[in-house]
Amino acid sequence: MFKDYFKYYKRRNPPPELESVIDLSNSASEQVRKLPVQCATQYETDKTIFGLKPINSWEIFELPHIPGLIFIRNPFTSSGQRYWITRCFKDYSRKPNKLNIDVHDVLGEKETWWDVCTKGDRRAALLIPKLRWATFGYHHNWDTKHYTEENKIEMPIEVEEITKVIAKALGFDNFNAEAAIINFYRMNSTLAGHVDHSEDNLDAPLISVSFGQSAIFLIGGSKYEDPAHALFIHSGDVVVMSGESRLRYHGIPRIVRACKTPWDDEELRDDVLVDSKDWCTAKSFISDARININVRRVLRPEQMTLTTCQPRRTWFSSRISIFSSAIFTLNLVNKFK
Ligand code: OGA
Ligand code: MN
Repeated sequence: MFKDYFKYYKRRNPPPELESVIDLSNSASEQVRKLPVQCATQYETDKTIFGLKPINSWEIFELPHIPGLIFIRNPFTSSGQRYWITRCFKDYSRKPNKLNIDVHDVLGEKETWWDVCTKGDRRAALLIPKLRWATFGYHHNWDTKHYTEENKIEMPIEVEEITKVIAKALGFDNFNAEAAIINFYRMNSTLAGHVDHSEDNLDAPLISVSFGQSAIFLIGGSKYEDPAHALFIHSGDVVVMSGESRLRYHGIPRIVRACKTPWDDEELRDDVLVDSKDWCTAKSFISDARININVRRVLRPEQMTLTTCQPRRTWFSSRISIFSSAIFTLNLVNKFK
């Protein structure tokens, strides 16, 4: 049962055995199958783009026992890692994005989390670990689990582009980044088991990119009672939940200190560069943190917007609306008789 696996991997004393956690950075694993790059994008496949290594060098895997779950082993250059880690801490942690710390009223009108945490303010020590999530695009509503047209801001172009490149390389042609959550984890954080079913379009893949400390990703079945598999996610790894796996229970029972820190590697040339002072700060933050960029498509292909008073149509609700519009037409006909 998912809950039992979660409890086991979350346990502090004694800590769990990690031998059976699937590690795709060790390609000897028999439980995985290598996939070819599906198709080229408008970008040349032999160049770096948005901090990604040339697409023709990516290592893509699938897990035959979890259909639709696709894993790309760290396709980022080390300066790509530095770029995305810094963007998340510095830029995605400010308005107009929504942040978990908004409700705590800890920041003044003009203050940003990054400024307060990097400029010698005495609130920094308390505030650094308080940042847990940021949302943009259609804002994820943690209470209602519903997206609405009114609760939406622009999606940063680089998030749109990078997820398009990733989707295309896996053969998903029409991916549109419409909602994103940036999860910030500390070493003792967990993310409880859940299914991401708020999106109107559940056929589109969910793209999840992680940086910093490693995590144990637990994925179960479509029912909470189903057993689960545990996988390591390391810095730069991309997990794509598509097809049948899109609606499986999953969660993060444990953050594990990374054995390798690919953000520290040297590189001579790249397409993305970060200010060295900003990186120095972001590097100190990531030494005790993990970042997950979780990107979803919300709308169905023919859908232009979400209309607030129209929940997702089920077979039952669409029958009711056909029925009520028939009554409405009948009333109109009667009126004009
Ligand atoms: C999520 C999620 C997984 C992760 O944000 O919905 O499942 O790897 N995140 O942090
Ligand atoms: Mn999720």
